[in-house]
Amino acid sequence: MAETTSRVPAPAPARLGILLQGMGAVGSTFVAGVIAARKGLGEPFGSLTQLAHIRLGKRTDGRNPLIREFAPMTALDGLVFGGWDIFGGDLYEACDTADVLDKRLIDGMEAELRAIKPMPGAFDVNYVKRLNGTAIKQGTRRELAEALRQDIRDFKAANGLDACVMINCSSTEVYVEAGPVHATLAAFEAGLDADDQAISPSMLYAYAALMEDTPYANGTPSLAADAPALLELADKKALPVCGKDFKTGQTLMKTVLAPMFKARMLGVRGWFSTNILGNRDGEVLDEPEAFKSKEKTKLGVLDTILQPEQHPSLYGDLYHKVRINYYPPRGDAKEGWDNIDIFGWLGYPMQIKVDFLCRDSILAAPIVLDLALFLDLARRAGRKGIQEWLSFYWKSPMTAPTVYPEHDLFIQLTKLKNNLRHMMGEELITHLGTEYYDEG
Ligand SMILES: NC(=O)c1ccc[n+]([C@@H]2O[C@H](COP(=O)([O-])OP(=O)(O)OC[C@H]3O[C@@H](n4cnc5c(N)ncnc54)[C@H](O)[C@@H]3O)[C@@H](O)[C@H]2O)c1
Repeated sequence: MAETTSRVPAPAPARLGILLQGMGAVGSTFVAGVIAARKGLGEPFGSLTQLAHIRLGKRTDGRNPLIREFAPMTALDGLVFGGWDIFGGDLYEACDTADVLDKRLIDGMEAELRAIKPMPGAFDVNYVKRLNGTAIKQGTRRELAEALRQDIRDFKAANGLDACVMINCSSTEVYVEAGPVHATLAAFEAGLDADDQAISPSMLYAYAALMEDTPYANGTPSLAADAPALLELADKKALPVCGKDFKTGQTLMKTVLAPMFKARMLGVRGWFSTNILGNRDGEVLDEPEAFKSKEKTKLGVLDTILQPEQHPSLYGDLYHKVRINYYPPRGDAKEGWDNIDIFGWLGYPMQIKVDFLCRDSILAAPIVLDLALFLDLARRAGRKGIQEWLSFYWKSPMTAPTVYPEHDLFIQLTKLKNNLRHMMGEELITHLGTEYYDEG
Protein backbone atom coordinates (compact mmCIF):
# COMPACT_ATOMS: atom_id res chain seq x y z
CA MET A 1 0.00 0.00 0.00
CA ALA A 2 2.96 2.27 -0.42
CA GLU A 3 2.75 5.39 -2.51
CA THR A 4 6.37 5.42 -3.61
CA THR A 5 7.37 6.82 -6.95
CA SER A 6 8.85 4.14 -9.12
CA ARG A 7 9.53 6.37 -12.12
CA VAL A 8 9.24 9.86 -13.59
CA PRO A 9 5.70 10.11 -14.94
CA ALA A 10 5.18 8.96 -18.51
CA PRO A 11 3.80 11.64 -20.85
CA ALA A 12 0.15 12.51 -20.35
CA PRO A 13 -2.42 10.89 -22.65
CA ALA A 14 -3.78 13.32 -25.24
CA ARG A 15 -7.24 12.20 -24.17
CA LEU A 16 -8.26 11.10 -20.70
CA GLY A 17 -11.64 9.61 -19.80
CA ILE A 18 -13.27 10.78 -16.59
CA LEU A 19 -15.97 8.42 -15.39
CA LEU A 20 -18.30 9.73 -12.73
CA GLN A 21 -20.21 7.49 -10.39
CA GLY A 22 -23.22 9.79 -9.94
CA MET A 23 -23.91 12.72 -12.23
CA GLY A 24 -25.96 14.98 -9.95
CA ALA A 25 -25.14 18.48 -8.76
CA VAL A 26 -21.38 18.03 -8.31
CA GLY A 27 -20.90 15.81 -11.37
CA SER A 28 -22.90 18.00 -13.75
CA THR A 29 -21.38 21.24 -12.43
CA PHE A 30 -17.90 19.80 -12.93
CA VAL A 31 -18.52 18.64 -16.51
CA ALA A 32 -20.37 21.81 -17.51
CA GLY A 33 -17.62 23.91 -15.93
CA VAL A 34 -14.88 22.22 -17.94
CA ILE A 35 -16.89 22.65 -21.14
CA ALA A 36 -17.50 26.31 -20.25
CA ALA A 37 -13.77 26.85 -19.63
CA ARG A 38 -12.92 25.24 -22.98
CA LYS A 39 -15.32 27.59 -24.73
CA GLY A 40 -14.00 30.63 -22.91
CA LEU A 41 -17.31 31.07 -21.08
CA GLY A 42 -15.75 30.90 -17.61
CA GLU A 43 -12.52 30.35 -15.68
CA PRO A 44 -11.74 27.20 -13.67
CA PHE A 45 -11.31 29.10 -10.41
CA GLY A 46 -10.57 26.88 -7.43
CA SER A 47 -8.45 24.45 -9.42
CA LEU A 48 -4.77 24.05 -8.47
CA THR A 49 -3.96 22.10 -11.60
CA GLN A 50 -5.22 24.93 -13.79
CA LEU A 51 -4.22 28.06 -11.86
CA ALA A 52 -1.59 27.38 -9.19
CA HIS A 53 2.15 27.77 -9.59
CA ILE A 54 4.87 25.77 -7.89
CA ARG A 55 8.13 27.22 -6.75
CA LEU A 56 11.24 25.25 -7.73
CA GLY A 57 14.72 25.63 -6.29
CA LYS A 58 15.70 28.67 -4.23
CA ARG A 59 13.55 31.76 -4.04
CA THR A 60 16.29 33.62 -5.86
CA ASP A 61 16.12 31.17 -8.80
CA GLY A 62 12.91 32.72 -10.07
CA ARG A 63 11.47 29.37 -11.19
CA ASN A 64 7.76 29.29 -10.57
CA PRO A 65 5.92 27.42 -13.34
CA LEU A 66 2.24 26.61 -13.46
CA ILE A 67 1.64 23.14 -12.02
CA ARG A 68 0.03 22.01 -15.27
CA GLU A 69 3.16 23.02 -17.19
CA PHE A 70 5.49 21.46 -14.65
CA ALA A 71 3.89 18.02 -14.29
CA PRO A 72 2.61 16.40 -17.49
CA MET A 73 -1.17 16.31 -17.51
CA THR A 74 -3.95 16.15 -20.08
CA ALA A 75 -5.26 19.55 -21.20
CA LEU A 76 -8.92 20.43 -20.62
CA ASP A 77 -9.57 19.95 -24.34
CA GLY A 78 -8.53 16.31 -24.04
CA LEU A 79 -10.95 15.34 -21.26
CA VAL A 80 -13.78 12.99 -22.19
CA PHE A 81 -16.71 12.56 -19.82
CA GLY A 82 -18.94 9.63 -19.01
CA GLY A 83 -20.53 7.95 -16.05
CA TRP A 84 -23.60 6.56 -14.38
CA ASP A 85 -26.70 7.82 -12.67
CA ILE A 86 -29.96 6.27 -11.56
CA PHE A 87 -32.10 9.03 -13.07
CA GLY A 88 -31.15 8.60 -16.74
CA GLY A 89 -31.59 11.65 -18.97
CA ASP A 90 -28.56 13.63 -20.08
CA LEU A 91 -26.23 16.18 -18.56
CA TYR A 92 -28.25 19.16 -19.78
CA GLU A 93 -31.18 17.81 -17.76
CA ALA A 94 -28.88 17.05 -14.80
CA CYS A 95 -27.66 20.67 -14.81
CA ASP A 96 -31.22 21.87 -15.05
CA THR A 97 -32.31 19.71 -12.08
CA ALA A 98 -29.29 20.69 -9.99
CA ASP A 99 -30.00 24.35 -10.67
CA VAL A 100 -26.46 25.39 -9.77
CA LEU A 101 -25.43 27.10 -12.99
CA ASP A 102 -27.16 29.88 -14.82
CA LYS A 103 -29.75 28.72 -17.35
CA ARG A 104 -28.17 31.01 -19.96
CA LEU A 105 -24.77 29.40 -19.41
CA ILE A 106 -26.05 25.84 -19.79
CA ASP A 107 -28.18 26.81 -22.80
CA GLY A 108 -24.96 27.93 -24.49
CA MET A 109 -23.57 24.40 -24.10
CA GLU A 110 -26.77 22.46 -24.70
CA ALA A 111 -25.46 20.30 -27.57
CA GLU A 112 -22.34 19.18 -25.66
CA LEU A 113 -24.29 18.52 -22.47
CA ARG A 114 -27.08 16.60 -24.20
CA ALA A 115 -24.48 14.35 -25.84
CA ILE A 116 -23.40 13.03 -22.41
CA LYS A 117 -25.88 10.46 -21.20
CA PRO A 118 -25.32 8.69 -17.88
CA MET A 119 -25.41 4.91 -18.04
CA PRO A 120 -27.88 3.11 -15.71
CA GLY A 121 -26.43 2.79 -12.22
CA ALA A 122 -25.80 -0.15 -9.90
CA PHE A 123 -28.05 0.78 -7.00
CA ASP A 124 -29.42 -0.65 -3.78
CA VAL A 125 -32.09 1.33 -1.95
CA ASN A 126 -30.89 -0.15 1.37
CA TYR A 127 -27.77 1.99 1.00
CA VAL A 128 -29.43 5.24 -0.15
CA LYS A 129 -32.89 5.19 1.40
CA ARG A 130 -34.25 8.50 0.18
CA LEU A 131 -33.84 7.85 -3.56
CA ASN A 132 -35.81 5.79 -6.03
CA GLY A 133 -34.22 5.96 -9.45
CA THR A 134 -35.54 5.11 -12.88
CA ALA A 135 -32.37 3.88 -14.60
CA ILE A 136 -31.10 1.00 -12.50
CA LYS A 137 -29.22 -2.12 -13.54
CA GLN A 138 -30.71 -5.43 -12.41
CA GLY A 139 -28.73 -8.47 -11.28
CA THR A 140 -26.70 -10.07 -8.55
CA ARG A 141 -23.64 -8.33 -7.09
CA ARG A 142 -21.44 -10.34 -9.47
CA GLU A 143 -23.59 -9.48 -12.49
CA LEU A 144 -23.63 -5.80 -11.55
CA ALA A 145 -19.85 -5.69 -11.12
CA GLU A 146 -19.38 -7.35 -14.52
CA ALA A 147 -21.88 -4.96 -16.13
CA LEU A 148 -19.97 -1.95 -14.75
CA ARG A 149 -16.71 -3.39 -16.06
CA GLN A 150 -18.31 -3.83 -19.47
CA ASP A 151 -19.51 -0.20 -19.35
CA ILE A 152 -15.93 0.96 -18.73
CA ARG A 153 -14.59 -1.11 -21.63
CA ASP A 154 -17.37 0.14 -23.93
CA PHE A 155 -16.73 3.76 -22.92
CA LYS A 156 -13.03 3.41 -23.65
CA ALA A 157 -13.66 1.71 -26.99
CA ALA A 158 -16.33 4.18 -28.11
CA ASN A 159 -14.05 7.13 -27.37
CA GLY A 160 -10.74 5.58 -28.40
CA LEU A 161 -9.30 6.01 -24.89
CA ASP A 162 -6.35 4.25 -23.32
CA ALA A 163 -6.69 5.82 -19.90
CA CYS A 164 -9.55 6.65 -17.56
CA VAL A 165 -10.04 7.64 -13.95
CA MET A 166 -13.21 7.20 -11.88
CA ILE A 167 -14.50 9.64 -9.29
CA ASN A 168 -17.35 8.78 -6.94
CA CYS A 169 -19.78 11.73 -6.92
CA SER A 170 -22.88 9.73 -6.02
CA SER A 171 -25.18 9.97 -3.04
CA THR A 172 -23.79 9.22 0.39
CA GLU A 173 -24.52 5.66 1.46
CA VAL A 174 -25.52 4.60 4.96
CA TYR A 175 -22.72 4.15 7.44
CA VAL A 176 -21.13 0.70 7.31
CA GLU A 177 -17.93 -0.71 8.74
CA ALA A 178 -15.72 -3.19 6.95
CA GLY A 179 -16.73 -6.77 7.84
CA PRO A 180 -15.48 -10.25 6.93
CA VAL A 181 -16.57 -10.00 3.27
CA HIS A 182 -14.46 -6.84 2.88
CA ALA A 183 -11.41 -8.23 4.65
CA THR A 184 -9.57 -9.82 1.73
CA LEU A 185 -9.90 -9.82 -2.03
CA ALA A 186 -10.66 -13.54 -1.99
CA ALA A 187 -13.52 -12.99 0.50
CA PHE A 188 -14.82 -10.09 -1.59
CA GLU A 189 -14.78 -12.14 -4.81
CA ALA A 190 -16.63 -14.93 -2.99
CA GLY A 191 -19.07 -12.31 -1.69
CA LEU A 192 -19.79 -11.14 -5.24
CA ASP A 193 -20.52 -14.71 -6.27
CA ALA A 194 -22.77 -15.21 -3.25
CA ASP A 195 -24.56 -11.89 -3.91
CA ASP A 196 -23.60 -10.75 -0.41
CA GLN A 197 -25.69 -7.68 0.46
CA ALA A 198 -22.86 -6.35 2.64
CA ILE A 199 -21.14 -5.30 -0.59
CA SER A 200 -22.41 -1.79 -1.27
CA PRO A 201 -22.92 -0.26 -4.73
CA SER A 202 -19.98 2.12 -4.24
CA MET A 203 -17.76 -0.92 -3.61
CA LEU A 204 -18.98 -2.45 -6.88
CA TYR A 205 -17.92 0.70 -8.77
CA ALA A 206 -14.54 0.80 -7.04
CA TYR A 207 -14.01 -2.89 -7.80
CA ALA A 208 -15.00 -2.43 -11.46
CA ALA A 209 -12.70 0.58 -11.83
CA LEU A 210 -9.68 -1.21 -10.39
CA MET A 211 -10.33 -4.39 -12.38
CA GLU A 212 -10.35 -2.22 -15.52
CA ASP A 213 -7.03 -0.54 -14.61
CA THR A 214 -8.75 2.70 -13.66
CA PRO A 215 -7.57 4.76 -10.66
CA TYR A 216 -10.39 5.57 -8.25
CA ALA A 217 -11.21 8.51 -5.95
CA ASN A 218 -14.10 8.63 -3.50
CA GLY A 219 -15.68 12.07 -3.18
CA THR A 220 -18.28 10.84 -0.69
CA PRO A 221 -18.15 9.56 2.89
CA SER A 222 -19.21 6.04 1.79
CA LEU A 223 -16.79 3.23 2.63
CA ALA A 224 -16.17 2.24 -1.03
CA ALA A 225 -12.46 1.65 -1.75
CA ASP A 226 -11.55 2.07 1.93
CA ALA A 227 -12.37 -1.62 2.37
CA PRO A 228 -9.21 -3.75 2.85
CA ALA A 229 -10.22 -6.05 -0.01
CA LEU A 230 -10.27 -3.17 -2.47
CA LEU A 231 -6.99 -1.77 -1.19
CA GLU A 232 -5.53 -5.20 -1.78
CA LEU A 233 -6.87 -5.06 -5.33
CA ALA A 234 -5.38 -1.59 -5.89
CA ASP A 235 -2.04 -2.90 -4.67
CA LYS A 236 -2.24 -5.97 -6.88
CA LYS A 237 -3.14 -3.90 -9.94
CA ALA A 238 -0.58 -1.19 -9.01
CA LEU A 239 -3.22 1.54 -9.15
CA PRO A 240 -3.67 4.71 -7.10
CA VAL A 241 -6.77 5.30 -4.97
CA CYS A 242 -7.78 8.10 -2.63
CA GLY A 243 -10.66 9.53 -0.59
CA LYS A 244 -12.85 10.25 1.30
CA ASP A 245 -15.42 13.04 1.10
CA PHE A 246 -14.46 16.24 -0.74
CA LYS A 247 -13.26 18.97 1.63
CA THR A 248 -15.26 21.92 0.36
CA GLY A 249 -17.00 24.27 2.81
CA GLN A 250 -17.25 24.03 6.56
CA THR A 251 -14.49 21.45 6.98
CA LEU A 252 -12.23 23.51 4.74
CA MET A 253 -12.69 26.42 7.17
CA LYS A 254 -12.16 24.10 10.13
CA THR A 255 -8.85 22.80 8.82
CA VAL A 256 -7.63 26.38 8.43
CA LEU A 257 -8.86 27.74 11.78
CA ALA A 258 -8.04 24.78 14.05
CA PRO A 259 -4.31 24.72 13.14
CA MET A 260 -4.19 28.44 13.96
CA PHE A 261 -5.61 27.85 17.47
CA LYS A 262 -3.14 25.05 17.98
CA ALA A 263 -0.21 27.07 16.60
CA ARG A 264 -0.97 29.88 19.07
CA MET A 265 -1.79 27.52 21.97
CA LEU A 266 -5.28 28.97 22.28
CA GLY A 267 -7.80 26.66 23.92
CA VAL A 268 -11.07 25.49 22.38
CA ARG A 269 -14.00 24.69 24.66
CA GLY A 270 -16.64 24.05 22.04
CA TRP A 271 -17.24 24.02 18.32
CA PHE A 272 -20.79 23.92 17.07
CA SER A 273 -21.21 23.55 13.32
CA THR A 274 -24.56 23.59 11.63
CA ASN A 275 -25.64 23.70 8.00
CA ILE A 276 -28.76 24.32 6.00
CA LEU A 277 -28.91 23.06 2.44
CA GLY A 278 -31.70 22.12 0.10
CA ASN A 279 -30.25 20.09 -2.74
CA ARG A 280 -30.64 16.34 -3.31
CA ASP A 281 -27.50 15.74 -1.26
CA GLY A 282 -29.22 17.54 1.64
CA GLU A 283 -32.29 15.36 1.20
CA VAL A 284 -30.19 12.16 1.28
CA LEU A 285 -28.25 13.38 4.34
CA ASP A 286 -31.51 14.11 6.13
CA GLU A 287 -31.77 10.35 6.61
CA PRO A 288 -30.02 9.47 9.92
CA GLU A 289 -27.92 6.54 8.66
CA ALA A 290 -26.55 8.56 5.72
CA PHE A 291 -25.91 11.49 8.05
CA LYS A 292 -23.89 9.16 10.28
CA SER A 293 -21.44 8.56 7.39
CA LYS A 294 -21.07 12.32 6.90
CA GLU A 295 -20.87 13.02 10.63
CA LYS A 296 -17.94 10.62 10.94
CA THR A 297 -15.91 12.36 8.23
CA LYS A 298 -16.78 15.83 9.56
CA LEU A 299 -16.08 15.06 13.23
CA GLY A 300 -12.73 13.33 12.80
CA VAL A 301 -10.88 16.49 11.85
CA LEU A 302 -10.50 18.36 15.15
CA ASP A 303 -9.01 15.59 17.28
CA THR A 304 -6.22 14.94 14.83
CA ILE A 305 -5.33 18.61 14.48
CA LEU A 306 -5.64 19.62 18.14
CA GLN A 307 -4.26 16.43 19.75
CA PRO A 308 -6.20 16.72 23.05
CA GLU A 309 -4.18 13.86 24.56
CA GLN A 310 -1.06 16.04 24.35
CA HIS A 311 -2.86 19.22 25.42
CA PRO A 312 -5.59 18.20 27.86
CA SER A 313 -5.90 21.68 29.42
CA LEU A 314 -6.46 23.29 26.00
CA TYR A 315 -8.55 20.72 24.14
CA GLY A 316 -9.39 17.94 26.61
CA ASP A 317 -12.96 19.21 27.23
CA LEU A 318 -13.81 20.23 23.70
CA TYR A 319 -17.48 19.75 22.83
CA HIS A 320 -17.79 19.25 19.06
CA LYS A 321 -21.16 19.01 17.37
CA VAL A 322 -22.07 18.91 13.69
CA ARG A 323 -25.59 19.19 12.29
CA ILE A 324 -26.92 19.14 8.73
CA ASN A 325 -30.44 20.40 8.16
CA TYR A 326 -32.35 19.83 4.96
CA TYR A 327 -33.98 23.12 4.01
CA PRO A 328 -35.30 23.06 0.42
CA PRO A 329 -35.50 26.84 -0.24
CA ARG A 330 -31.72 27.10 -0.26
CA GLY A 331 -31.04 24.54 -2.98
CA ASP A 332 -27.30 24.14 -3.56
CA ALA A 333 -26.54 27.48 -1.85
CA LYS A 334 -25.61 26.06 1.52
CA GLU A 335 -25.15 28.13 4.64
CA GLY A 336 -22.63 26.78 7.13
CA TRP A 337 -22.50 28.37 10.58
CA ASP A 338 -19.80 27.78 13.12
CA ASN A 339 -19.80 29.00 16.67
CA ILE A 340 -16.39 28.49 18.24
CA ASP A 341 -15.82 29.01 21.95
CA ILE A 342 -12.12 29.60 22.51
CA PHE A 343 -10.08 30.78 25.47
CA GLY A 344 -6.76 32.54 25.94
CA TRP A 345 -4.42 33.93 28.62
CA LEU A 346 -5.60 32.80 32.08
CA GLY A 347 -8.59 31.06 30.53
CA TYR A 348 -10.53 34.18 29.50
CA PRO A 349 -13.25 33.13 27.03
CA MET A 350 -13.82 34.49 23.53
CA GLN A 351 -16.10 33.55 20.66
CA ILE A 352 -15.72 33.37 16.92
CA LYS A 353 -18.69 33.11 14.54
CA VAL A 354 -18.24 31.99 10.97
CA ASP A 355 -21.12 32.22 8.54
CA PHE A 356 -20.10 30.76 5.20
CA LEU A 357 -22.70 31.43 2.51
CA CYS A 358 -21.23 29.00 0.06
CA ARG A 359 -22.18 27.09 -3.03
CA ASP A 360 -21.56 23.42 -2.54
CA SER A 361 -21.06 22.24 -6.08
CA ILE A 362 -19.12 25.35 -7.11
CA LEU A 363 -16.60 24.45 -4.39
CA ALA A 364 -16.55 20.75 -5.27
CA ALA A 365 -16.23 20.95 -9.08
CA PRO A 366 -12.58 22.11 -9.22
CA ILE A 367 -11.65 19.37 -6.75
CA VAL A 368 -13.06 16.75 -9.12
CA LEU A 369 -10.94 18.18 -11.94
CA ASP A 370 -7.74 18.26 -9.88
CA LEU A 371 -8.23 14.77 -8.55
CA ALA A 372 -8.84 13.36 -12.02
CA LEU A 373 -5.63 14.91 -13.36
CA PHE A 374 -3.50 14.11 -10.30
CA LEU A 375 -4.73 10.51 -10.13
CA ASP A 376 -3.80 9.96 -13.74
CA LEU A 377 -0.41 11.56 -13.05
CA ALA A 378 0.07 9.23 -10.07
CA ARG A 379 -0.73 6.24 -12.27
CA ARG A 380 1.85 7.31 -14.84
CA ALA A 381 4.40 7.79 -12.06
CA GLY A 382 3.86 4.19 -10.97
CA ARG A 383 2.27 5.11 -7.66
CA LYS A 384 -0.05 2.59 -6.17
CA GLY A 385 -2.38 2.30 -3.21
CA ILE A 386 -3.54 5.20 -1.05
CA GLN A 387 -2.31 8.57 -2.28
CA GLU A 388 -1.79 10.47 0.97
CA TRP A 389 -0.21 13.38 -0.89
CA LEU A 390 -3.74 14.17 -2.11
CA SER A 391 -5.05 14.55 1.50
CA PHE A 392 -5.48 18.25 0.66
CA TYR A 393 -8.78 17.43 -1.03
CA TRP A 394 -10.40 15.27 1.65
CA LYS A 395 -12.43 15.73 4.80
CA SER A 396 -11.30 12.31 5.93
CA PRO A 397 -8.08 11.43 4.11
CA MET A 398 -7.48 7.72 3.65
CA THR A 399 -4.20 6.62 5.19
CA ALA A 400 -2.27 3.46 5.88
CA PRO A 401 -3.71 1.78 9.02
CA THR A 402 -0.60 2.60 11.06
CA VAL A 403 -0.66 6.40 10.69
CA TYR A 404 -3.12 9.15 11.46
CA PRO A 405 -4.36 11.45 8.68
CA GLU A 406 -2.92 14.92 8.14
CA HIS A 407 -5.76 17.48 8.26
CA ASP A 408 -3.99 20.85 8.37
CA LEU A 409 -4.69 22.42 4.98
CA PHE A 410 -1.31 24.11 4.67
CA ILE A 411 0.70 21.04 5.65
CA GLN A 412 -1.41 19.16 3.11
CA LEU A 413 -0.53 21.74 0.44
CA THR A 414 3.17 21.53 1.27
CA LYS A 415 2.95 17.76 1.06
CA LEU A 416 1.16 17.89 -2.29
CA LYS A 417 3.70 20.27 -3.81
CA ASN A 418 6.71 18.39 -2.42
CA ASN A 419 5.35 15.19 -3.89
CA LEU A 420 5.07 16.87 -7.28
CA ARG A 421 8.67 18.13 -6.93
CA HIS A 422 9.82 14.66 -5.94
CA MET A 423 7.97 13.03 -8.82
CA MET A 424 9.57 15.41 -11.30
CA GLY A 425 13.10 15.03 -9.86
CA GLU A 426 13.24 18.52 -8.28
CA GLU A 427 14.66 19.36 -4.87
CA LEU A 428 12.15 19.29 -2.01
CA ILE A 429 11.49 22.57 -0.22
CA THR A 430 12.14 22.06 3.49
CA HIS A 431 12.02 25.66 4.74
CA LEU A 432 15.41 25.27 6.40
CA GLY A 433 18.14 27.93 6.52
CA THR A 434 17.05 31.18 4.94
CA GLU A 435 13.93 29.63 3.49
CA TYR A 436 10.84 31.04 5.13
CA TYR A 437 7.47 29.44 4.89
CA ASP A 438 6.74 30.35 1.33
CA GLU A 439 4.75 28.10 -0.92
CA GLY A 440 4.88 30.64 -3.74
N1 LIG B 1 -20.94 19.46 -2.98
C1 LIG B 1 -20.09 19.38 -2.00
O1 LIG B 1 -19.58 20.37 -1.53
C2 LIG B 1 -19.72 18.03 -1.47
C3 LIG B 1 -18.68 17.96 -0.56
C4 LIG B 1 -18.29 16.73 -0.06
C5 LIG B 1 -18.93 15.58 -0.48
N2 LIG B 1 -19.97 15.68 -1.34
C6 LIG B 1 -20.63 14.42 -1.69
O2 LIG B 1 -20.65 14.27 -3.08
C7 LIG B 1 -21.79 13.48 -3.43
C8 LIG B 1 -22.55 14.17 -4.55
O3 LIG B 1 -23.10 15.39 -4.09
P1 LIG B 1 -24.19 16.12 -4.99
O4 LIG B 1 -24.47 17.42 -4.36
O5 LIG B 1 -23.79 16.05 -6.42
O6 LIG B 1 -25.44 15.16 -4.77
P2 LIG B 1 -26.60 14.84 -5.83
O7 LIG B 1 -27.67 14.15 -5.05
O8 LIG B 1 -26.98 16.05 -6.61
O9 LIG B 1 -25.90 13.83 -6.85
C9 LIG B 1 -25.66 12.49 -6.55
C10 LIG B 1 -26.13 11.70 -7.74
O10 LIG B 1 -25.75 10.34 -7.55
C11 LIG B 1 -26.78 9.55 -8.09
N3 LIG B 1 -26.66 8.21 -7.52
C12 LIG B 1 -27.03 7.77 -6.29
N4 LIG B 1 -26.71 6.49 -6.14
C13 LIG B 1 -26.12 6.10 -7.30
C14 LIG B 1 -25.57 4.88 -7.76
N5 LIG B 1 -25.55 3.79 -6.97
N6 LIG B 1 -25.05 4.84 -9.01
C15 LIG B 1 -25.05 5.94 -9.80
N7 LIG B 1 -25.57 7.12 -9.42
C16 LIG B 1 -26.08 7.20 -8.18
C17 LIG B 1 -28.05 10.28 -7.73
O11 LIG B 1 -29.09 9.91 -8.58
C18 LIG B 1 -27.64 11.74 -7.92
O12 LIG B 1 -27.94 12.22 -9.22
C19 LIG B 1 -22.61 13.31 -2.15
O13 LIG B 1 -22.32 12.05 -1.57
C20 LIG B 1 -22.08 14.39 -1.26
O14 LIG B 1 -22.21 14.10 0.11
C21 LIG B 1 -20.37 16.86 -1.86
